[in-house]
Amino acid sequence: MKNKIFVAREVFQEVLDFLAPHCEVQANQEDKVLTAEELAGVLADKEGAMTTLTERIDESLLSRCPRLKAVCNIAVGYNNIDLAACNAHGVLATNTPGVLDDTTADFAWALILATARRLNEAEAYIRARQWDKWKLKQFLGLDVHHAVLGIIGLGRIGQVVARRAMGFEMEVLYHDVRRAAPEIESACRATYVPKEELFRKADIVTIHIPYSRETHHAVGAPEIALMKKSAILIHAARGGVLDDAALVEALRKGAIAGAGLDVFEGEPAIHPGFGELKNVVLSPHIASSSEKTRFRMAMKAAENLVAALASGNPPNLLNPEVKKGA
Ligand code: GLV
Repeated sequence: MKNKIFVAREVFQEVLDFLAPHCEVQANQEDKVLTAEELAGVLADKEGAMTTLTERIDESLLSRCPRLKAVCNIAVGYNNIDLAACNAHGVLATNTPGVLDDTTADFAWALILATARRLNEAEAYIRARQWDKWKLKQFLGLDVHHAVLGIIGLGRIGQVVARRAMGFEMEVLYHDVRRAAPEIESACRATYVPKEELFRKADIVTIHIPYSRETHHAVGAPEIALMKKSAILIHAARGGVLDDAALVEALRKGAIAGAGLDVFEGEPAIHPGFGELKNVVLSPHIASSSEKTRFRMAMKAAENLVAALASGNPPNLLNPEVKKGA
């Protein structure tokens, strides 16, 4: 008998076609975000689930889903999955590392350039038919070329962001909990500095660390207070790493020049202060959203699920402690 699986959010038809020969698939192609109760109800008779950051997989859910063997997230971040609870219930958890680094780094650059050059303000101005003459001092922005770029987190995505900076002939500083290997530093032409020095020296700070209890508000009022008044802050990692209220306060006071944000604490709700500020570029968690990359992410999650149910050893296993026979 085929394993039953639930695909929790809308995916590409090709992904469902790939799954169909392997499993009995129930798919939420209407894309409604299920409540915890609804999710527990649907997963009660399922062996596998393909999830996204909108589904919380925790003890309360797992204790109601006795047949569940694998949860495969369509994301590299997995703070929606409680790994300790998965371990306790023998549930394999996977993510999608590697396939979204370039696309996410490209988007961080889109935010860097748009924020530095005030593209959203300029566009709103022209759409409002306010443009009546050319002015020398119109929408004066921050030069990206030859600026100092400070990268918080030189992991897979941070490294790609750093390599892209060579084209802009920037000085790249980074901070991470662990210093990167010398060959990574030299490939990225990035210099390790203490966190305080990075915030003090950078013209552009961009955040690329995962969210966890340890990284909650890793960038908050004390770090923002160190930044130059002319500097900008970019965040395309995960909501909660940045203290959004502290950023709103800093922007209101003019303590920094602007921010480009793709992720938010408590998204899809955002801090109401962002809506009132002109000097923020906002996007709805789309950094990895190119046609090719979102397809590859969903397909990778599907491949993980098929492998998890067939062999107990999926390629992107997050909790090897529950591996079959381990
Ligand atoms: C998106 O946030 C991801 O983690 O892939």
